[in-house]
Amino acid sequence: MTTIGIIGAGHIGSQIARKAVELGYDVVIGNSRGPETLSDLVNELGPHARAATAAEAAAAGDFAVVTVPFRAYRNLPVEPLAGKVVIDTNNYYWERDGHFPELDKGEATTSGLVQKHLEGAKVAKGFNHINFADITTSGTPAGTADRRALATASDFPEAVELVTRLYDEFGFDAVNIGPLDESWRVERDRPAYGVRQNAAELKENLGRAPRTI
Ligand SMILES: NC(=O)c1ccc[n+]([C@@H]2O[C@H](COP(=O)([O-])OP(=O)(O)OC[C@H]3O[C@@H](n4cnc5c(N)ncnc54)[C@H](OP(=O)(O)O)[C@@H]3O)[C@@H](O)[C@H]2O)c1
Repeated sequence: MTTIGIIGAGHIGSQIARKAVELGYDVVIGNSRGPETLSDLVNELGPHARAATAAEAAAAGDFAVVTVPFRAYRNLPVEPLAGKVVIDTNNYYWERDGHFPELDKGEATTSGLVQKHLEGAKVAKGFNHINFADITTSGTPAGTADRRALATASDFPEAVELVTRLYDEFGFDAVNIGPLDESWRVERDRPAYGVRQNAAELKENLGRAPRTI
């Protein structure tokens, strides 16, 4: 049995947990306020899910998903995620997160900053350009015509492999952007952001993305 540690239990965290449990994963999920605030969610998810602190969720996961507001990335626990694949769903909304000048100037990427903070982890961008509601509803079996595709990026091939496999189980084709330095191509407000697209369309949209917006 594979356990996914999920840090962040909001729109995206809870949806990934729902689909993961449906697929047979065990899930340990945490937020900032404490496990006691997640009793409704874990009751809904059933016996393959439990609530924990963020650090406990990180430690319990064979791999992890971090899905907190971007501004909180420096609070993510480092030590329990070291050596693990960490799927980062974050997007930068300066209106919500405050300004990060290196992102405003196009000198960094959101997932690149998460990777710098999570020393020793293998960060992969994932699930950042799909609306939370679609995670449980828009997947289809492999080989379906016009199957929806999602992008990933990582400096670690094994992280790309894991995300590719997970996307497929969730019902999506994967498109590998390359290293995290290139992951701006799927950040907020680029052509690939938020729209439903198949793999060919996603590749085209990634290719025509502007570096800054
Ligand atoms: N909503 C979407 O459709 C969507 C789609 C793709 C990507 N994203 C991106 O994914 C990320 C999460 O989005 P969301 O919509 O799921 O956000 P959300 O609904 O606001 O949920 C955020 C979650 O993060 C938790 N959290 C905040 N600070 C934390 C910390 N320091 N340690 C542990 N947990 C913490 C919150 O816990 P508490 O409530 O206890 O504070 C909450 O459970 C964002 O960067 C967002 O831009 C969102």
